[in-house]
Amino acid sequence: MTTAHTAPEHVRDEAPVSARGWTIGRPRAGDGAQLWRLARESETLDVNSSYSYLLWCRDFADTSAVARDADGRPVGFVTGYLRPDAPGTLLVWQVAVDAAHRGRGIAGALLDHLSERVAGTYPLDAVETTITPDNLASERLFGAYARRHGARVSRTVLLPSGAFPTPGHEAEVLHRIAPLAF
Ligand SMILES: CC(C)(COP(=O)(O)OP(=O)(O)OC[C@H]1O[C@@H](n2cnc3c(N)ncnc32)[C@H](O)[C@@H]1OP(=O)(O)O)[C@@H](O)C(=O)NCCC(=O)NCCS
Repeated sequence: MTTAHTAPEHVRDEAPVSARGWTIGRPRAGDGAQLWRLARESETLDVNSSYSYLLWCRDFADTSAVARDADGRPVGFVTGYLRPDAPGTLLVWQVAVDAAHRGRGIAGALLDHLSERVAGTYPLDAVETTITPDNLASERLFGAYARRHGARVSRTVLLPSGAFPTPGHEAEVLHRIAPLAF
């Protein structure tokens, strides 16, 4: 499970990905509080406890990425994990970009960076995420990612509305992007 090829130079570490001065790399231990703020301010994501973002930055840094502005402050993030029973599948848990920085390709660059970095260590061949039917931006983001990588998107309802303990939560539709080759 751990043998694979070497990631391209530009995704091994903090890498300048834009002339606008932001960089993308692994989360650092101290980033959790800012990731929690970004999730809360997105007004779209389910906001988990601050504790979970703090722990995530320690224990799932290998499968997550952060975009920073010129001052090193996180302005976007993607969190993910390799599914324990399908280690070639990266489940993207959350992705968010600060409203002031949207529309500049940061989320797409985060997904490209993360999947290429993960593929440098693991035999990655699929990306999954769940999207609620009203989230057009997210649909477009992952659709564009699939097109860039020449992969198909299959959609199935993973968590119907009734699976949630409180009323009003939309269904979560699983988007599986495969096959991927790096
Ligand atoms: C979804 C989100 C992460 C996109 O971030 P971003 O940095 O603005 O996205 P990008 O600039 O990389 O755009 C990626 C693609 O999505 C499209 N897109 C982005 N925002 C869009 C919007 N509001 N409406 C329609 N399309 C949109 C872009 O046109 C682009 O497609 P293209 O490559 O075909 O042109 C951001 O809007 C966000 O943080 N939303 C709140 C949190 C959220 O909904 N997260 C996703 C669910 S986990």
